[in-house]
Amino acid sequence: MTEPIQFFLPGPTYVLERVRQAMTQPMQGHRSAPFKKFYLSLSERLPQVFRTAGDVMVATGSSTLVMESAVISCAEESVLNLTNGAFSERWHSITKSVGKSADAVRAPWGQAVDPELVRAALRRRKYDAVTVVHNETSTGVANPIADIARVIREESDALILVDSVSSMAGARIESDDWGLDVVLAGVQKAFALPPGIALFTLSDRAAERAAKVSRRGFYTDLLNYRSKHREGGFITTPGIPLLYALDAQLDVMLEEGMEARWERHDRLQRRTAAWAAERGCTYASAEGAHSVTVSCLFPPAGVDPQAIVKGLAARGFTIGGGYGDWKPTTFRIGHMGEVRDGDLETLLRQIDQVLEQVAAAVAG
Ligand SMILES: Cc1ncc(COP(=O)(O)O)c(C=O)c1O
Repeated sequence: MTEPIQFFLPGPTYVLERVRQAMTQPMQGHRSAPFKKFYLSLSERLPQVFRTAGDVMVATGSSTLVMESAVISCAEESVLNLTNGAFSERWHSITKSVGKSADAVRAPWGQAVDPELVRAALRRRKYDAVTVVHNETSTGVANPIADIARVIREESDALILVDSVSSMAGARIESDDWGLDVVLAGVQKAFALPPGIALFTLSDRAAERAAKVSRRGFYTDLLNYRSKHREGGFITTPGIPLLYALDAQLDVMLEEGMEARWERHDRLQRRTAAWAAERGCTYASAEGAHSVTVSCLFPPAGVDPQAIVKGLAARGFTIGGGYGDWKPTTFRIGHMGEVRDGDLETLLRQIDQVLEQVAAAVAG
């Protein structure tokens, strides 16, 4: 049965009833044989979402834990951070804060990172790793990861660390075919799970390189996760209820099929774009770089985006306001996770009514 969704934040997103119920199952010892069997069934299905023949590990913590762990584990000395929004800037700050030598290739907010600028930077200096955010949730921009990864591979042997926090399970990401070394995903976005765990891959090449990196810590050592994972377990007590939820949600996703899921997200974005064009709302993300999971929009001229967010809240609907510096000028619709076409239509009709109210008040 489909549940009507009125919650359109770009994370956390709506969690299905059956997934929430799954979390109420009794605890098990995380080293027990039944639990290991349960975990094995997760490990067999997760790579289908990440499109890898390798391992997908679970960290108990939010996505930022794995962003930090990836630079600590994969780079001895130097990192190139590609930035075009708040979360990629966060990765740059994290890289500096853990004592690595960090350079940035910066694209303006709203623009995608140009692979040719990455090429130029890699010709100037050698790096252990490059970080890139696939889907900048702050601006609704999707970076051309396959092209960027190809350039990095052509120009260097730097490891490719990808934040797919708000795109994994909503957009196609070919971890193996695109040669990505670490792909990390949040679960509270297109995965449609409650927050609290993060998922990630670690390529063999990255694992070999990480083995030579000093001071990888314990909770931040991705190799540590991988060796425990291969024994069927975890480095610490995992968030067991969240794993129950992941189990239930993987069934939901694989029943839908990944191709169908990506196509639905694509369709939701196209519908939002068509509606926006009719209403005089323009995309804050550059043409050709729109994210399929979140639309970041300027309201029609003269309308305060906060008036839309608040007007919807009064009607029981939630969307996102602008992020950081873009808070006063934009609003964001998260059309990801379990959102269906009908849910989006209902939301768009509600926004229409709010816009009419705002116009009436201005005329008023
Ligand atoms: C692209 C991106 N990266 C990283 C993060 C940080 O995720 P978390 O809050 O799970 O640490 C977010 C959160 O919204 C995000 O959208």
